Amino acid sequence: MPVPLENAPHHVAIIMDGNGRWAKQRGLPRIEGHRRGVETVRTVTFAARDLGVRMLTLYAFSIENWKRPQDEVGALMGLLEYYLRKELETFVRDRVRFRAIGRTEELPTGVQQLLRTTTEETRHFSDYTLVLALNYGARTEVVDAARAYAAAVAAGKEKLNDGSWATFSRYLYTADMPDPDLVIRTSGETRMSNFLLMQAAYAEFYFTPVQWPDFTKADLAAAIADFNRRERRFGLTSEQLGPVKTVAK
Ligand code: IPE
Ligand code: IPE
Ligand code: MG
Repeated sequence: MPVPLENAPHHVAIIMDGNGRWAKQRGLPRIEGHRRGVETVRTVTFAARDLGVRMLTLYAFSIENWKRPQDEVGALMGLLEYYLRKELETFVRDRVRFRAIGRTEELPTGVQQLLRTTTEETRHFSDYTLVLALNYGARTEVVDAARAYAAAVAAGKEKLNDGSWATFSRYLYTADMPDPDLVIRTSGETRMSNFLLMQAAYAEFYFTPVQWPDFTKADLAAAIADFNRRERRFGLTSEQLGPVKTVAK
């Protein structure tokens, strides 16, 4: 079903899950699932833009993922480096702004360097942004933000009594990003796994059994169409919102 561009959610965030199971079902090593997952990242990055999305955040590596077997973690870091090295050219050519959120300072130095370069060389693009959540955990983000906020209060840059969400949220990794409108999780799991817990306070959720390596533009379009059938009330009543204007044309 074609999705009218003007109805697209501004910011879509995806918990990319199911690479391991995809591989296992085919008798392949887990890393093969991750390799195919990288191909899906490429496809979905441009599919989202075609569908009218302005910002796409992909959960690529959680803080908890360090606890996986060392060879899998090593392979994931290797893939990340390979991906960033290859994509910079594409981002520049196709005007994709890139950024990363998470404790990136704990990633391998080679990856950190690539993140810096990619962020820097794409920072002047404004139409479409790809955000990778790397070494990301929502609870750690809140701890980091609280620490930075406390330091700002101690330094006299913030007043404790003014502490509103608008002020505090400027200390999150996502400081200058809009909240996600739609959060998608693949692979049939229906949990958040420590992803954007604060920012997704009023997001719509969409869960699909499709494993990430199999996720296509059509699957994304289906998620967006579903999103467009919903009424977001933000605590108000339906009557307060007026006539529903969400049904896909
Ligand atoms: C998602 O796929 C990728 C990462 C978390 C890095 P998984 O590796 O979690 O795949 P499953 O859940 O084991 O199938
Ligand atoms: C969430 O997937 C993290 C990423 C997609 C990067 P996981 O596969 O790590 O989550 P759990 O362990 O099933 O909750
Ligand atoms: Mg998983």
